[in-house]
Amino acid sequence: MVAPFLALVLSQAHPFDDVARVLLHPRCVNCHPAGEAPLQTDASRPHHQHVTRRIEALGTHCTACHRPNAPQGVGLPPSAAEWKMPSAELPLVFEGRSPAQLCDQLKDPARNGGLSPEALREHMAHDPRVVWSFSPGPGRTPPPLTHPRFLEAFEAWLQQGQPCPKEAPKVPKSKAPAPAERPR
Ligand code: HEC
Ligand code: HEC
Repeated sequence: MVAPFLALVLSQAHPFDDVARVLLHPRCVNCHPAGEAPLQTDASRPHHQHVTRRIEALGTHCTACHRPNAPQGVGLPPSAAEWKMPSAELPLVFEGRSPAQLCDQLKDPARNGGLSPEALREHMAHDPRVVWSFSPGPGRTPPPLTHPRFLEAFEAWLQQGQPCPKEAPKVPKSKAPAPAERPR
């Protein structure tokens, strides 16, 4: 399985590059954070009013503010069906992942919610929150690829057998705060 895409690996573009550029964009990262709080804006700041995934346990749903079909505008809560964060049990963290780590995670059923490549393809094409991310309304930058172009890149990655980029040589890293230390 390695030989066919060796040529691609040797040229600088890796089939996962364009997929990673979308997944690591604030529109996706803001709901797939490393900590307990969703993130906001193009700068991915922690959500205002101390909103974290724990508010659901206290009886407030994200959809109290993020109502489906609500009018959209700068600073207003964005709206898409099933607006919520991944669960604490299966947090699906994208924030702070390298493309290599993200790729390994995305194709591992134990860490992606048990999804086959077909189910992943479905999710990328039709999940209402993914669809929203590509037309996020005023005041929010969409990801660097259009949704159709992203689906092409994703399909190409699937067709090639989900190859993952190699991790860049390691410099000891101590930068990302542990999830528990993130500001709430
Ligand atoms: C409003 C929050 C939100 C946004 C924005 C969002 N996601 Fe998600 N995503 C979720 C939730 C919640 C789940 C957990 C599964 C579920 O509830 O359907 C999830 C799951 C996933 C999964 C795993 C598949 C699964 O069903 O377990 C992938 C892959 C994914 N999202 C990709 C993306 C990409 C790519 C973007 C941006 C283009 C994005 N997400 C934007 C909330 C979001
Ligand atoms: C009290 C109302 C309120 C509640 C509750 C709330 N939000 Fe928000 N949320 C907002 C507002 C308002 C914005 C827009 C802020 C801005 O863009 O300046 C926002 C923005 C966001 C964004 C940023 C989207 C982007 O990419 O720019 C995400 C992600 C988000 N909320 C997720 C959640 C999640 C997940 C929950 C539930 C755990 C939740 N919110 C609960 C009001 C709320």
